[in-house]
Amino acid sequence: MAIEEISKNALTVLEKRYLGKDENGNVLESVEDMFRRVSDTIAAVDANYDTSTNTRAQSDEFYELMTDLKFLPNSPTLMNAGRALGQLSACFVLPVEDSMEGIFDSVKNAALIHKSGGGTGFSFSRLRQSGSAVRSTGGVASGPVSFMKVFNAATEAVKQGGTRRGANMGVLRIDHPDILDFINCKANNSEITNFNISVGITEAFMEAVEKQSDYDLIDPKTKQAVGHLSAEKVFDMIVDHAWRNGEPGIIFLDRLNRDNVTPSQGEIESTNPCGEQPLLPYESCNLGSINLVKMLRKTLTGYELDFRLLGETVEKAVHFLDNVIDANNYPLEKISETTRASRKIGLGVMGWADALLMQGIPYNSDEAVELAERVMRYINNTGHAASARLAEKRGTFPLFSVSTLKDGPAMRNATVSTIAPTGTLSIIGGCSSGVEPVFAYAFIRNIMDGTEMIEVNPVLMAKLKELGLYNDDVLKKIASEGTIAHCEEIPEEVRRVFVCSHDIKPIDHIKMQAAFQKYTDNAVSKTVNFPKEATRNEVRDVYLLAYKEGCKGVTIYRDGSREEQVLNIGKVN
Ligand code: CDP
Repeated sequence: MAIEEISKNALTVLEKRYLGKDENGNVLESVEDMFRRVSDTIAAVDANYDTSTNTRAQSDEFYELMTDLKFLPNSPTLMNAGRALGQLSACFVLPVEDSMEGIFDSVKNAALIHKSGGGTGFSFSRLRQSGSAVRSTGGVASGPVSFMKVFNAATEAVKQGGTRRGANMGVLRIDHPDILDFINCKANNSEITNFNISVGITEAFMEAVEKQSDYDLIDPKTKQAVGHLSAEKVFDMIVDHAWRNGEPGIIFLDRLNRDNVTPSQGEIESTNPCGEQPLLPYESCNLGSINLVKMLRKTLTGYELDFRLLGETVEKAVHFLDNVIDANNYPLEKISETTRASRKIGLGVMGWADALLMQGIPYNSDEAVELAERVMRYINNTGHAASARLAEKRGTFPLFSVSTLKDGPAMRNATVSTIAPTGTLSIIGGCSSGVEPVFAYAFIRNIMDGTEMIEVNPVLMAKLKELGLYNDDVLKKIASEGTIAHCEEIPEEVRRVFVCSHDIKPIDHIKMQAAFQKYTDNAVSKTVNFPKEATRNEVRDVYLLAYKEGCKGVTIYRDGSREEQVLNIGKVN
């Protein structure tokens, strides 16, 4: 690999967390060593299926895929493959049973997962409501929110010793009697900080919102209605809290279960921490992302997507991710069994916004939305075909014959596609993250441990150089605002294309999310950014639109509504 392709920012991140070190913290691996460690480990799996396989040649193929920055597996694979820990997945969901044993088993299991760099999602919906009876002690139950605080404290204490900070998703069903407490539980920004929270919304609830009627609260133990609330009032309360500080998000539970391919194994109650991966209890999933910037080819007038190269990359990536399932050292036997039964993988994309910029297509245009559908349909179809070919060689996933896919082509993996946030992968890949628009054309990024990194979007940088406008004055102006919308030195035609999150209307964010969701088996990680002055009604409209457009959930963020933001505009001088 040409080492110069890896940016300084990427090296900082890799050295901090990914490269092997001795006990004194001295880095023992080069970036090339890291990719070789990963490709050797993942390629070795091929020998389990075909002893005549040339694993060295296979390792070279995987090595090139990663070092060309065409495809990267999720962070735990880069960190842990070929090392003692060997835990390779980013996403887990654990059940939380309604008993002391169950709750604290789950706390322990989450700690083990966090230690290995994975994130955990939980539904707290099975826990009895606060104030209800505890038979064995004669006392009263403290309810889901108080137990979430226990999980939060455990996460805080683990801090992922050496890998990364623990991330959790907490879900509560909209019809749980403690739902109002839950919606309110992160109103104070300093509480439950290691959790993202999402309300699990049902179709019945959305219908009640539309009809402006009441809906029932259900006792999780007896399944009996124990009260009712005005759907509209609760919906408005969710909107109000999200408007205040971005939490809670919402997920559409019935949609997640409509796409549950193995319903005989139970119900999907939660997603992973960032929302893109719905899973059954004890399931885990490994993700990987194709860098779309590397899928472009030059034309006489600019760039276009090279679908042949994309297809080849998808094929290799599916093979890679299927191998990860076998190479993985799971933190619990039960997780190993559940994961190997469905063999879910989550292939997605990153660098979407940059790829659009290079093609001269504004993110907030019909052309971009149409291309999103075309690209994702192609990736999903090609990915399923690749999984089917693997099934011929290696057999289907064990639950195939009882899955909803049983009447179609044999499949190696119960799901193939997921669109991850690619928070770190996009830094390594040097591209925009996931399918998000460029957040700002120059900004300071706060990464782990309070380190700050300055970034200028590379596509804009190249454009400014081409126009002879790459100078301090212009950069300062862009850095102070993030957007180039008001930068009159830059031609109008360029400004029309180089839009950032804040130039894009919330409705266009949702249209893009929905376009990708249409051809994604799992879900799409996407935040709808609002300007500070946005109203609650605008947030409400976006939630309703996400529902109408077939999204599986929504996360919104209004600028300035949390003291500590991951991304900041205007800090660069
Ligand atoms: O880019 P990278 O592979 O590091 O991760 P990502 O795409 O930003 O996040 C993918 C998933 O990794 C998240 O949805 C979480 O499940 C998990 N994650 C985590 O557990 N802890 C973090 N600090 C970041 C991500």
